Amino acid sequence: MKLNIEEQAILAGEKGPGPALAMEILVSIGDAFDAPRLVPISRAHVALSNQEADLWFAEKLARAGARCIIPPTVNPGFSLDFFTAQGMVLPEDKALMQRTFDAYQSLGARMNFSCTPYLFDNIPRQGEVIAFSESSATPYVNSVWGARTNREAAQSALCAAVVGKVPEYGLLLTPNRRATALVRVSADLSNDFAFQKLGWAVPEKIGHRIPVFEGIPTDVSMEGLVNLGAQLNTAGAVPMYHIAGVTPEAPTLDAALQGQPPELVVEITKKELNDQIEKFSDRPGPIDFVMFGCPHHTLRQVQKVADMVQGRTLKTELWILTSSYTLEMSRRMGLFEIIRKSGGHIVADTCPDQPCWHHLKGKKGATDSPKCAYYPKRRGIQFVVRDLETCVDAALKGAIA
Ligand code: F3S
Repeated sequence: MKLNIEEQAILAGEKGPGPALAMEILVSIGDAFDAPRLVPISRAHVALSNQEADLWFAEKLARAGARCIIPPTVNPGFSLDFFTAQGMVLPEDKALMQRTFDAYQSLGARMNFSCTPYLFDNIPRQGEVIAFSESSATPYVNSVWGARTNREAAQSALCAAVVGKVPEYGLLLTPNRRATALVRVSADLSNDFAFQKLGWAVPEKIGHRIPVFEGIPTDVSMEGLVNLGAQLNTAGAVPMYHIAGVTPEAPTLDAALQGQPPELVVEITKKELNDQIEKFSDRPGPIDFVMFGCPHHTLRQVQKVADMVQGRTLKTELWILTSSYTLEMSRRMGLFEIIRKSGGHIVADTCPDQPCWHHLKGKKGATDSPKCAYYPKRRGIQFVVRDLETCVDAALKGAIA
């Protein structure tokens, strides 16, 4: 990869060891992908995980004096204030979260702790070159906003934020954004949960190809698109999709295919969507809790839950994970209080894949998101996956069908 004089100076350590390390990593990635050069970015999002390896790298960069030129938004860990007040975390969990907070703060990150910054405070324009990690974020910014990012790792996105540049390869280049798999959807997509199921079922059929969907209405909801990308990029590695009339660079099917025939054509039926979810979901029956917000729930989703539980008492725990923005709005709109009175919780800054859920180990819950079930399963937590309404109903009854 060719570096200009300024980039060579950073690599040589003239701006300190932190930027030099970040540059070294970006150059190595660029060389691995035959990128010809670095190009500037205008935004970044770092999928911090609040786990030891992620923290090791962030602290290493911070100790070396790195500071982000492009302050990135960051993924959730867990809310220190909330879980400490509830007595739900061990001293070592608190210490890890505090160190993660300190490291990213000293790197100059925007401490939003949400995986859906692309809906509020980190929204790119069409064509903007950016560095986004996080499985739900990358497809959304590529496919809905029309920005250009590769499927960055937390570490590569952080290095890009420090240097302010990324290697030019992959989805930054128009030919590589071509849809190569045509996915014909005959299943009913009339609710947001159908998009969770669709995103979960498609990767097995298309591998690493970029899909263009036929059969998704152009008035698909924001939540449907969030769900679709989150599951596509969790069940598989699909950082971009096209929907003609939704994806900015794809006004037509032919534009998505860039005038070429697809390599693969597949059909997705209602039965396939249901079969895939059933295969993954734990068995229905009595449940101990319901968890929503993976990716972080929107205000509209919080409103739906509040409407269903208003004036009623939950039989199980109910957790709604969301951004601090949505939490604040739900307070202002009285939704927080409605859900609190029913026995539920709305919590900001928090992810299901965190060490704040010790008390759920060995228990069974329900969720509307396969991704929500996917990570905690490793911690011994079971999940039945159903639509939002069925899950809320289950929280009111204590069991799910
Ligand atoms: Fe967000 Fe954590 Fe789920 S980052 S998408 S809440 S696994």
